[in-house]
Amino acid sequence: MPKKEAAGRQSPINAQPRIHQRAREIQAYGTVSHALPLELDEPVRLEMTEQLNQLLADTITLRDLYKKSHWQVAGPTFYQLHLLFDKHFGEQVELVDGIAERIQLLGGISLAMAADVAETTRIERPPRGREEVPVQISRLLDAHQFIIGQCRTLAARASELGDDGTNDLVVSDVLRTNELEAWFLSEHLVEMPLVHAEDPGMRKAG
Ligand SMILES: [Fe+2]
Repeated sequence: MPKKEAAGRQSPINAQPRIHQRAREIQAYGTVSHALPLELDEPVRLEMTEQLNQLLADTITLRDLYKKSHWQVAGPTFYQLHLLFDKHFGEQVELVDGIAERIQLLGGISLAMAADVAETTRIERPPRGREEVPVQISRLLDAHQFIIGQCRTLAARASELGDDGTNDLVVSDVLRTNELEAWFLSEHLVEMPLVHAEDPGMRKAG
């Protein structure tokens, strides 16, 4: 038996983990892979993945804004808002995954890391500190409004380019979820008496 083999150094099987590895990227951000059996031309997939990455960055930001609000909310409505914000956070998590995977299946590369998202999103950055409930809700509504507008533009363009799958994802999932969540939030900004009704006419009659 050769000396090397006897020492076990030539064996292809090795229980030692090969840690701290780095190598060049296998695909650059902003490109799409060529041969995909989707019947969608490369320029269409390039444009759609670029726009979906913008929607992704904004959706990740809204998702995180919900968690910030969930943690930092204060006041008499703490419990219901704490739960509502987390419910919407969970729904946004699902949307993030749907958008990111749509980008990948179109041959593109999804944004993923916080620093890249922060550089890309167009949603206003909130302060690190705590804000009162009406401000928290207003920030969330502004983000929803921005995303809803973006969805309508993107869906129309996807339809125009023949990318029905993107159109369906954007309308059926992203747009509808954002519309519904915006309604739930908006109702919290209506002035409403909690104990005494304030209709002057009714007070006279009583
Ligand atoms: Fe929690």
